[in-house]
Amino acid sequence: MEGDHGPAHRLPRGHSRHGDPRRSADGRARHRRSRPAAHRDLELDLPNGSPLTRSIDAEIRQGERWLLTGRTGTGKSTLLRAIAGIWPFGRGRIETPLDARVLFVPQKPYLPIGTLRAALSYPDAPTAFSDDALRDALEACGLGYLADRLEESRHWALELSPGEQQRLALARVLLQRPDWLFLDEATASVDEESERQLYQLIATRLPRMTIVSVGHRAGLAAFHVHRLRLQAATDDGLTQPGGAVREPIT
Ligand SMILES: Nc1ncnc2c1ncn2[C@@H]1O[C@H](COP(=O)(O)OP(=O)(O)OP(=O)(O)O)[C@@H](O)[C@H]1O
Ligand SMILES: [Mg+2]
Repeated sequence: MEGDHGPAHRLPRGHSRHGDPRRSADGRARHRRSRPAAHRDLELDLPNGSPLTRSIDAEIRQGERWLLTGRTGTGKSTLLRAIAGIWPFGRGRIETPLDARVLFVPQKPYLPIGTLRAALSYPDAPTAFSDDALRDALEACGLGYLADRLEESRHWALELSPGEQQRLALARVLLQRPDWLFLDEATASVDEESERQLYQLIATRLPRMTIVSVGHRAGLAAFHVHRLRLQAATDDGLTQPGGAVREPIT
């Protein structure tokens, strides 16, 4: 997780490195910083306290690529939120990588109103990256036609198509160069060939980056080595709620 590249999102601060890592006094999932990301005996709940998942165990090591699958509503996005430390409902233990730069890319990225430079640099300051770096990232992600519009101030979330917004979010990945990348259906709005090219791009440019993707398209499997499938309540005769099955990608 060492590196000399630029800043990226960090996991929320304030997670204890000491004390009993398994459970806080109120029974919520506890975070602990460590090298691999792991979740052990993790059971996620909904805000009203009803259970969302059964026990999930997984350990994700630096450099691995995981595909998180499961039917709609099984809790894929919620599991990513829990790993990010922004889903407090549940029990168990979540370990997150020590001092790693972590970037989460949701299906609909946040684009601030303002210059394209600011939208592309977000969450860093608009001055964080050179013009060359910004243009290169745009071109690499198929947005080269925007490279001369860096100073234009627009409501980009209304102007760019959903697929263009996702390309822009992946251009941010190239700029931020995180150690750990979480993609939650981050390429679902681009066509399948473009999705393949974008994954190939980040795999080539950032070969040591850990990737945890949520996605539904079969073609995504080619870019991942491990699969964690969240089970729906109706899978395998389970009664509510579902658990997780680790499957190799063949
Ligand atoms: N903030 C919330 N309050 C109440 N229920 C929620 C909240 N967030 C998620 N849920 C519920 O938790 C369940 C899992 O949601 P989640 O978004 O994790 O599913 P998912 O597997 O990512 O689905 P999809 O494939 O449609 O993206 C859903 O039933 C959803 O309605
Ligand atoms: Mg989701």
